[in-house]
Amino acid sequence: MTFAGTPKAIDLSHHLNKLSLSRVASPLKDIIKYMHEPGMISLAGGLPNPSLFPFGELRARVYAPETDLRSSEEHCSPIEFSIPKNASPSHKNTLSAALQYGSSYGSARLSSFIREFTSHVMTPGYSDFEILLHSGNTDAWNKVVNILCEFGDYILVEEHTYPSSQALWAPMGCKGVPIPIDKDGLIPEALELVLKNWDQTFPRIKKPHLLYLVPVGHNPTGATLTLERKKAIYKICVEYDIIICEDDPYYFLQFPPYVLQSQRTQEESGTAPSDIPVEHPNSSSELDGQAYVNSLIPTFLSLDVQGRVIRLDTFSKTLGPGNRLGYFVCNPLFAERILRATEVTTQAPSGLSQALIEELLISWGQEGYLRWLPGLRDSYTSRRDWMCDLIAKYFDLVPSPANIVDDVVAVQKGHGSTKDAVPYFSFSFPKGGMFAWIKLYLPSTSTYQNMKATSPSNENATAKWAEAFWMDLIKEKVLLTPGSYYTPIIGSGINERMPLEPDVIFFRLAFSFETREEMEVGIERMANVFERWWS
Ligand SMILES: Cc1ncc(COP(=O)(O)O)c(C=O)c1O
Repeated sequence: MTFAGTPKAIDLSHHLNKLSLSRVASPLKDIIKYMHEPGMISLAGGLPNPSLFPFGELRARVYAPETDLRSSEEHCSPIEFSIPKNASPSHKNTLSAALQYGSSYGSARLSSFIREFTSHVMTPGYSDFEILLHSGNTDAWNKVVNILCEFGDYILVEEHTYPSSQALWAPMGCKGVPIPIDKDGLIPEALELVLKNWDQTFPRIKKPHLLYLVPVGHNPTGATLTLERKKAIYKICVEYDIIICEDDPYYFLQFPPYVLQSQRTQEESGTAPSDIPVEHPNSSSELDGQAYVNSLIPTFLSLDVQGRVIRLDTFSKTLGPGNRLGYFVCNPLFAERILRATEVTTQAPSGLSQALIEELLISWGQEGYLRWLPGLRDSYTSRRDWMCDLIAKYFDLVPSPANIVDDVVAVQKGHGSTKDAVPYFSFSFPKGGMFAWIKLYLPSTSTYQNMKATSPSNENATAKWAEAFWMDLIKEKVLLTPGSYYTPIIGSGINERMPLEPDVIFFRLAFSFETREEMEVGIERMANVFERWWS
């Protein structure tokens, strides 16, 4: 499908690496097109005979898209479907095909569903974008690095970055160039400064040409990029000829702003049992699919008029990570190069997974999927609220002073109104995703002062303190993810990390998994540990 007046992708072939430029089509895949010619008897392919596959039929019972995921009541009537072994007028999807070697593009029916969805929801800014299925964003990022990066390249990353993304390129001797972020995501001015001063800061070193970021519900910080920042970042990337890889697993989990329980209306906070979630003004029960789409911050893809954005979408957070299924949206040249690499590596995502998700989405329809997603968003919004409410219950939250960019500072319970309240940590209420990110202020603890007095450097004291504090949390049976896991690798060894900010450390808290009761026990235990360490 092309859109009148919409530009086509520009030539970005100079971004491809040597490996990708020299890759040729797999001869085995080339032969497939002839197999489907009418009258052809193929003695060529090594396809196993489907009559010998042991699976006769796949039956599934799935939630209806309008299911109220926040209700503890019995879910409304499920939808059932089956995938038979062989085609019939009522069944296009078959196990014979799903279990056979297939096209590296992925299922044509599923791709076409995704294309329609992407055109409607993301409205890409150029017309000849391609959809290519992959086995999840982890697989997809591997393929992006595989076509774009040379050994030793510098890659632009957020100053706290998703660890498995860098664990992929670190063994290639690549290095991260950390760009500062705050609660609204990557700071465009900081990106521009790095690129403008590159030749002075890194003389004779090849300029980075790839920016990796997680724009919504950032992992680990929970930050969500504003549209203004996305526009500014895109403009800078055009100016400096940077490819943007938007790894966006949390795109559909964009929340309304958090309102403290004490400031919600009677009706909102009121008498309902604590496990019944608060309904926000734009929760799905009041929204149709289009209003939900309108409530989402547009993607980089929608701003992209040149084809310089590689968008990674995954079903991991919307339909389950075990499906190992997602899709690229990118320009035709990159799609073709990724396809060539896919043919000789993963070949295609699991056929069973494709068949199952295809059947699910086609039985829901476009409208149904656009009912499912806001319902899911509401459910995670409630979880975000639980966590923020619980932090407010076990700590006092005070407004941040001017030198702290976070929304609030947490202090000891009962001390919020005292002048000398000592900051434990600051954080911002997440506007998307699954994580809250807390920044701890160590100088006011005597343990830290003692460690500083006996350590060779401040950084050493910070790291030692962080380890001891984390161990104490674990002893108390509450597990948080240490912020140091997300520190960019800036040297040629995996341990050569960006220097730590002095006197502060970070932890990531996930609100995606535990029940409200478990979350409460966890936050209470966390508060006990803070009290001990700050006493
Ligand atoms: C930023 C980011 N990228 C990628 C992934 C992995 O996605 P997938 O399951 O699609 O491989 C995650 C999962 O936590 C993530 O947070």
